[in-house]
This record gives sequence, C-alpha cells and structure tokens, in this order.
Amino acid sequence: MRILLFTGKGGVGKSTVAAGTAALAAAAGHRTLVLSTDAAHSLADAFGAVVGSEPTEVAERLYVQQVDAQLRFEQSWAEIQRYLLTVLDVAGVDPVAAEELTVIPGAEEVLALLELRLHALSDEWDVIVVDCAPTAETLRLLALPEALGWYMERVLPMQRRVVKALKPVLNRAAGVPMPGDSIFDAVERLHAELDEVHGLLSGPTASVRLVMTPETVVLAEARRSYTSLSLFGYRVDGVVANRIFPADNADDWRAGWVLAQDAVLSEVGQSFAGLPIWRSEYRSGEPVGVAALAELATDLYAGSDPLAVPTGDGPFRVTRTTDGAVLHLSLPFVTREQVGLARNGDELVVTVESYRRLLTLPAGLSRLRVSGARVEEGELRVRFRDAAPVAQEKVT
Ligand SMILES: Nc1ncnc2c1ncn2[C@@H]1O[C@H](COP(=O)(O)OP(=O)(O)OP(=O)(O)O)[C@@H](O)[C@H]1O
Ligand SMILES: [Mg+2]
Repeated sequence: MRILLFTGKGGVGKSTVAAGTAALAAAAGHRTLVLSTDAAHSLADAFGAVVGSEPTEVAERLYVQQVDAQLRFEQSWAEIQRYLLTVLDVAGVDPVAAEELTVIPGAEEVLALLELRLHALSDEWDVIVVDCAPTAETLRLLALPEALGWYMERVLPMQRRVVKALKPVLNRAAGVPMPGDSIFDAVERLHAELDEVHGLLSGPTASVRLVMTPETVVLAEARRSYTSLSLFGYRVDGVVANRIFPADNADDWRAGWVLAQDAVLSEVGQSFAGLPIWRSEYRSGEPVGVAALAELATDLYAGSDPLAVPTGDGPFRVTRTTDGAVLHLSLPFVTREQVGLARNGDELVVTVESYRRLLTLPAGLSRLRVSGARVEEGELRVRFRDAAPVAQEKVT
C-alpha cells in the first residue's frame, strides 16, 4: 500500500493537488482513498461533491473522507480527559479553566490521523492520499510517542504498580481520585496507536510532498518544513510548484509576475536539488470536480509515475566503518551551529532551533560511544566507535 501526504502553507493548493493525485491513482486502477484531517474540510469543495465523515465514493475506485476530528478526539482522549478533570476539580481549579487545561493544541488533528491506521489495517486500499493541515506541525506532533517511549516503557508500568498499592490509603487520605486501570489502559492504547501511525507515515511506502506557490515567503516556509519533516523521520519525495503564471501572450502585469515567479522557481530548483519539482499552471478557473482535478494532475506529473515509490536513502540510515558506525540524519539547510546533540542512554536527542527529536538508537548503535558529529551535504553525521557508552554525554 502506498501512502502520500500533501502539506504546505495555507491556500497553496494542497487539497487540489492531493485530490488530483488521488483521481489519477483511481483512474490507473488502484483502490484509492483520499482523506483530510483538517477541520476546514475543502476536499468536498475540490470534488464538488457532498462528502461525509465515512469514505464516500466520488468516482470508480475513488473514495473521499473528511475525518470527524472531534469524534475521534472524544473516542481516544475523553477518558483520560475525564480523569484529569476530576483531579483538577479536587484541586479546586475552576471547571471552565480545567476544561481548557486538558485541551492540547493540535491534538484533534493528530487523533484524526488514527483513522489512517484503521484504513491501513483494513486491506481495502492500494493508495491512501492524505490532505494535511497547513503546516507540518501535525506530523511533528506524531513523533510524540517516540519521545514518550522511555516514560511509557519504564515509568508508567511502575507508576501503575505504585498507584495500585497506594490507592486504598490515598483515596481516603487526600480525597484525590487515583487513576484506575482503565486510565492507564487508555493512555497505553493511545500511545501504541499513535506510534503505529508514525511508523506507517515514516515507513518505506510513505512519502510527503511539499506544495508551494512560487513566492519568496512560501518558499521560506517550504524549506523549514523540509528540515523539520526530515528531522522527524518523514521522507519528502517531491515538490509541487503550483499556480505558475503562463508566459505566453502576457500583458505587462502578468509579465511582471512571470519574471518574479521565474526568479523564485530557480531558487526552488536550487533548494530542492535532487527532488523532482512538478509544475502546475495557474488555470483560468478553479479546478473543481474529478475531471478537472485529474487533468491538472496529468499536466503536473507530466508523464512521470505519481505513485513511484521513492528510491535511495531515506532521512535516516546507518553505515558501518572499520571501528564503529556513522548515523546519517538528513537535515537540509541546517548548519552545524544550529544543531544540538546529546546522548541519553539509548536515545539521541537532536535539536534544530526550536525543534527537538528524541531518537531511539538502533540496537547496534546503542552499544557504541559517540565520538563526534558534523553536518555535511545536508546531513547530520554522528560517528560512533567501539567503546562502552557512557550513560549521558553532551556532544558539542
Ligand atoms: N493550479 C491552479 N489554478 C487555478 N486555481 C487553483 C490552482 N490550484 C488551486 N487552485 C484554487 O486555489 C484555491 C485554494 O486551493 P486549495 O483549497 O487546494 O488550497 P489548500 O492549500 O488546500 O488550502 P488550505 O490551506 O485552506 O487547505 C482553490 O479555490 C483552488 O480551486
Ligand atoms: Mg486544503
């Protein structure tokens, strides 16, 4: 099964391009589902069809779903939230403020992605296309289970035992309700499911496409997304430059735009060297409906296979050396000064400006000691050599 994600700044054409790509996949004979997790559902508008929160057929083999984020939120988070609310109530926090405290920004969207897991398990689809929210923020949040891994594996089971033992005493003494088994179960289940979704989306058959319009500000954001997506383990396999003004018979106004866009497009080429850059013209009207979307996508991919599985190195790989190994983490546009690195047991903590990833080291590396790091050719390269690791080390 192939999973394609489309992300990019607001209004650049993510939904249009995602829908068009899905239309091509279905026309090529694949059972295709395109879904959006964004609360502002525009897939229905792109297809010019009524679409519900369950997969709705819009053409042969082509299904569209606008996930009800609120519903998924209630199913996965409600029990945990109810518990937090009772604790805050006992602590004397005003109920309205308490309600607000238990809402995590962006959580709804992330939980909507749980839908993807169900579809991937169902064996009903050959291709799943995801129309993501305006920034890569959601995908970053998906790396959360990995960051919580240590806590979930070692601390939570211990807490569970302690709470069980102390429960009769504490409930009477403090009046604070202790979390029951069902709360622990709910937390563990949510953690495992989110971890699975992250695994699916960073796996070998999934890739992310950055949609942009040829404008300086939009390019800047696309470059930042490329860095943070790579940091969190997602493979970017192409860039869509959308709404390019046609140069033919241009009046002065349009000729001005053509020149400006050309300048940005050549910067796009340099920024994303090595990735395909698919181009789509600014059409004379909104591409709405399966036929118009498929036509846009046909022009966009210009004969190349829109579903091609990316080859070559992913954002993360390990190579062997004579006396150890090197971990390669793709980090485009980043300089060594912007990267922070620390070792914590079998985890590597990588920070790039405000982004931070806790990377679980593969078994082969966790036995080794970090001997240095550098940034070369858009990659962070961390050298490991044969020597017993120390529990914590700061690499500078
Ligand atoms: N190549 C194009 N030519 C003409 N119109 C386009 C083109 N691409 C997209 N549009 C139009 O631009 C508008 C925005 O496109 P779309 O909804 O796909 O963007 P989006 O990135 O999904 O937006 P949002 O961030 O709000 O989800 C729509 O009206 C769409 O029909
Ligand atoms: Mg959209």
